[in-house]
Amino acid sequence: MSTISVLFVCLGNICRSPTAEGIFRHLATARGVHDRFVIDSAGTSGFHAGDASDPRTLAAAARRGLSWTHRSRQVHATDWQRFDLLVAMDRKNHRDLLAAAPSEAARAKVVLLRSWDGAAAGDLDVPDPYYGGDRGFEDVLDLCERSCGALLDHLLDRLAAQPTGKGVAPR
Ligand code: 4NP
Repeated sequence: MSTISVLFVCLGNICRSPTAEGIFRHLATARGVHDRFVIDSAGTSGFHAGDASDPRTLAAAARRGLSWTHRSRQVHATDWQRFDLLVAMDRKNHRDLLAAAPSEAARAKVVLLRSWDGAAAGDLDVPDPYYGGDRGFEDVLDLCERSCGALLDHLLDRLAAQPTGKGVAPR
């Protein structure tokens, strides 16, 4: 049975990308397709390596019945082989990943989460909530819920089209 490996990436890996990881895992589990995916998250920086997610992120997630134990880690060179898709939370993360990608094939794995947000108007960033108020953490959840649902649909279509072998072309 083929699987797809997805790495969600933000700056610190304590707010946005663990939220996207938690929501994607929740949606895949709810739809009974959790075993078709390897799901993880990481930061372009190592500022918070080893830390649990931000308490404000965890509190906002808990209000929607979500929880996780992820510890922050920085994107590692081996991630370019391990993952089929590296999903950036904002355009800066996207640019930084493209700059770090070791090959054209690796560059082709880098996508922007909100390119799957059908309700997006204007820019495609998941705004960084770290220095703002509680509303920012709710916004992250809303944007990640919308985008991860459509991303999951997209990846399930790809899996259905390629029933054998490991991994799929990114888009
Ligand atoms: P994240 O948020 O990239 O969504 O995890 C941030 C977390 C920490 C910092 C910036 C953004 N920081 O500057 O420490």
